[in-house]
Amino acid sequence: MKTIVSVGGARPNFMKLGPFHNALTPYRDRIRHLIVHTGQHYDESMSKVFFDEFGLPAPDFSLGVGSGTHGQQTAKIMVEFEKVLEKMRPDLVVVVGDVNSTLACSIASVKLGVPVAHIEAGLRSFDRTMPEEINRVLTDAISDYLFVTEPSAIANLIKEGVDESRIFYVGNVMVDSLLAYRDHSAASNIIENLGLNGEAYVLVTLHRPTNVDTSEGLNTIAEIFERVSHDRAIVFPLHPRTRKMIGEYGLGKRFERIARLKVIEPVGYLDFLKLMENSTLVLTDSGGIQEETTVLGIPCLTLRSNTERPITVEIGTNRITGLDADRVLAACHDVFEGRFKKGSIPHLWDGKAAERIAGILVNKCLGE
Ligand code: UD1
Ligand code: UDP
Repeated sequence: MKTIVSVGGARPNFMKLGPFHNALTPYRDRIRHLIVHTGQHYDESMSKVFFDEFGLPAPDFSLGVGSGTHGQQTAKIMVEFEKVLEKMRPDLVVVVGDVNSTLACSIASVKLGVPVAHIEAGLRSFDRTMPEEINRVLTDAISDYLFVTEPSAIANLIKEGVDESRIFYVGNVMVDSLLAYRDHSAASNIIENLGLNGEAYVLVTLHRPTNVDTSEGLNTIAEIFERVSHDRAIVFPLHPRTRKMIGEYGLGKRFERIARLKVIEPVGYLDFLKLMENSTLVLTDSGGIQEETTVLGIPCLTLRSNTERPITVEIGTNRITGLDADRVLAACHDVFEGRFKKGSIPHLWDGKAAERIAGILVNKCLGE
């Protein structure tokens, strides 16, 4: 019996772990799969709701690290995860995405000689002011197996000197979840519950520090909402970071005054899928949502100056606008008036990425 330990910590990790966990089921006589939750995200709406929706078992280890500065959070995760490694002596650690938990657990593992597989490797925004970019570059540099979602990731890794034999183009586990749960999400009542029956709306998520950690950024967001709300209702599930910063800058009243803006708590996955699928347009700075809208064929404006997921712009429905009110409004009007590309779905974003990964890990990495 071999042991694989998978790590989740923050919201976008759980929709990637769900399919991987399921894909290991056929191998359960040979592979014991343990899940570690670092506790980077801890609100029920950012964490537990996804374990329930994806039918993930309760974590085998909950490290409970919580929030902190980058140094504090990363260090605490390393200290606590090292204890799990010492105790369980796994044959492989699997990390996903680009959050602090991803990097911290990768470092702790390789230092103890435990090989690491990184799911969603090789993505690069080439913007080192993003904490995620640092996490991506460092995790990839020390991972043994690199599972990638799009061609740009292969080119990036090769440029960084990674041997091709360690790179596997497998598709996108986030899309596995989307395709598996798309039908279930039709039963969500979120649209009626928000009183939006028949009313067209724009869905927005924003949480990047460059957008929401400054008063200037938040005021630009408020201006965008004020102007968009002339044409559409807006649904804004508020990330806890953004909620905190709106409070700190005393901007709550400005947002409250915007007619047709519905600020809500972060919602579960099925509700969010339903909201995306029925929206006119999505405005976001999320990584995963750029990919999900491409698969759903919903126009997406990314309010950042770059993306680490260029395939969503090249062939999908994504467009980069930066956090620039005039550019965002012009692009919104393109969508409202029917001038927007249709997009197509990237190769192997077919719902089977996790199966491919499990097959490779079981056969190649564990020598089974
Ligand atoms: C993190 C990831 C980011 C990812 C995002 C997904 C890093 C460096 N950042 O950003 O890549 O896109 O998650 O959502 O790993 N908070 C709560 N409750 C929670 C979690 C956080 O109130 O359950 C608040 C705390 O005030 C905390 C702040 O949100 O300080 C930021 O949380 P943190 O995990 O540090 O970063 P995110 O902005 O969530
Ligand atoms: N999501 C969700 N509820 C929300 C907002 C997002 O379930 O209120 C899902 C979304 O569908 C996607 C993931 O969360 O699967 C994206 O996470 P996030 O934007 O927090 O992180 P990022 O992808 O930017 O790292």
